Amino acid sequence: MQVSRLDGPEAVEVVEWEEPTDSDAVIIDVHAAGVSFPDALLTRGLYQYKPELPFIPGAEVAGEVRSAPAGAHVAKGDRVAGLTMLHGGMAEVVALAPDRVFKLPDAVSFEAGAGLLFNDLTVHCALRTRGRLSRGETVLVHGAAGGIGTSTLRLAPAWGAARTIAVVSTEDKKAVATAAGADDVVLADGFKDAVRELTGGRGVDIVVDPVGGDRFTDSLRSLAPGGRLLVLGFTAGEIPTVKVNRLLLNNVDVVGVGWGAWTFAHPGYLQEQWAELEPLLASGRVPAPEPVVYPLERAAEAIASLENRSAKGKVVLSVR
Ligand SMILES: NC(=O)c1ccc[n+]([C@@H]2O[C@H](COP(=O)([O-])OP(=O)(O)OC[C@H]3O[C@@H](n4cnc5c(N)ncnc54)[C@H](OP(=O)(O)O)[C@@H]3O)[C@@H](O)[C@H]2O)c1
Repeated sequence: MQVSRLDGPEAVEVVEWEEPTDSDAVIIDVHAAGVSFPDALLTRGLYQYKPELPFIPGAEVAGEVRSAPAGAHVAKGDRVAGLTMLHGGMAEVVALAPDRVFKLPDAVSFEAGAGLLFNDLTVHCALRTRGRLSRGETVLVHGAAGGIGTSTLRLAPAWGAARTIAVVSTEDKKAVATAAGADDVVLADGFKDAVRELTGGRGVDIVVDPVGGDRFTDSLRSLAPGGRLLVLGFTAGEIPTVKVNRLLLNNVDVVGVGWGAWTFAHPGYLQEQWAELEPLLASGRVPAPEPVVYPLERAAEAIASLENRSAKGKVVLSVR
């Protein structure tokens, strides 16, 4: 799939592109490719990172290793998931640095495998590294029926959360959040009061916020003393501002979570993250996501479903 002009998801088209060759890279025959919110932004040139045109969108894949350099931790024939990080994934073949390739447990299908790294490793970074989630805490997540949202709901209990509260915009998204494991689901409209009631006035310890926009202040107000608001993204479009007196008055933190930047600053971090995630997936303690699957040729529609807010859960393209 190629983006050759920045006219949005509809302009993404199938092209013939030369296969990558790189003797230092793991070459993967891609079976499925994940669709993430940055793909939608990239098709309009709205993401903070702007690849040169034309480019192939897609931040993550799953497939079979065609070849690997000597000494790599994977070999020809292995089932793997891999991260391009931001572009190049929606293709039949990708070449990745070995540290961006992860052996898939047998229990995880290619389609599920293509839909888990980007969100699960971001959520690991958010809850474990940046958010300091402790056992027994309560986690609220916005955009809870989306990719980051469902990933948070699956993983937070495994990393100690005693309770998860999901915030969604519509009644029909409630079922998606419940299926992902939410203990409580509330509507975005009026969520602050609902949270106050659910927590007996105490508030929550962590807010995971990939949405931003005008609900930000109410998110701050929903934190218990010592609480952390984790800033992941701005799907609502607007980047909120914070009056810092609120932080002082209630002893709360606003914490930035930039997973990609963190991985570049901390060599080896991706494989450390995988070492914490893989056993949960392999044992079935945390089930792999069950993505919505589109054929590769319908990539435009799949990417548009994130932009127009109709996507439910993680979206993945079936490539072969
Ligand atoms: N910081 C990092 O390291 C990092 C890493 C990965 C992703 N992200 C960011 O996290 C955000 C979420 O990604 P995702 O893959 O979870 O996306 P997603 O699957 O599309 O989910 C995002 C959710 O945002 C909500 N939303 C609210 N207003 C919206 C609007 N105007 N348009 C579209 N959605 C809207 C929707 O839920 P409701 O309809 O229920 O409100 C939707 O389910 C993106 O901004 C992405 O760039 C950040």
